[in-house]
Amino acid sequence: MKHLHITLAVISIILFTYRFILMMLASKNLDKKWLKIAPHIIDTLLLVIGISLAVKLHINPVEQLWLGEKIIAIFAYIFTGYYTLKLARNKALKILGYLGAMGWVMLIVRLAMTREAMFLG
Ligand code: HEM
Repeated sequence: MKHLHITLAVISIILFTYRFILMMLASKNLDKKWLKIAPHIIDTLLLVIGISLAVKLHINPVEQLWLGEKIIAIFAYIFTGYYTLKLARNKALKILGYLGAMGWVMLIVRLAMTREAMFLG
């Protein structure tokens, strides 16, 4: 289940980066139907499998604060991603949004690897 979890996380980040690049190039490919549907399916699966992993391994995010911090960081990643693709009005803001989202990804990966909260606790 852990390998599936990591695979889904990698696909999620690749799909977001691909959509960001297509948007910067003003490519018509961005309107492809699969690109509108696939990211939602992948991200939902990532969330469901992540929660299942936590339940299976008895990791409570309120006790093990690295997981609590990771969940907060995931919401921030989802929102900055949404901001980048939908809300940001010009190229500079879109680039800033993308860099912001990648910053959250770096925190998420670090928390997953070290299992030590950086800011909580
Ligand atoms: C962008 C999103 C995510 C990324 C990049 C990510 C990344 C990772 C990675 C790399 C690992 C393996 C760490 C290791 O080597 O042991 C991992 C494990 C794990 N992740 Fe995630 N994850 C994400 C989302 C989530 C979500 C949404 C949850 C739950 C709400 C979650 C819960 C867990 C749990 C419980 C483990 C197992 C930790 C252990 O083996 O002790 N992850 N994650």
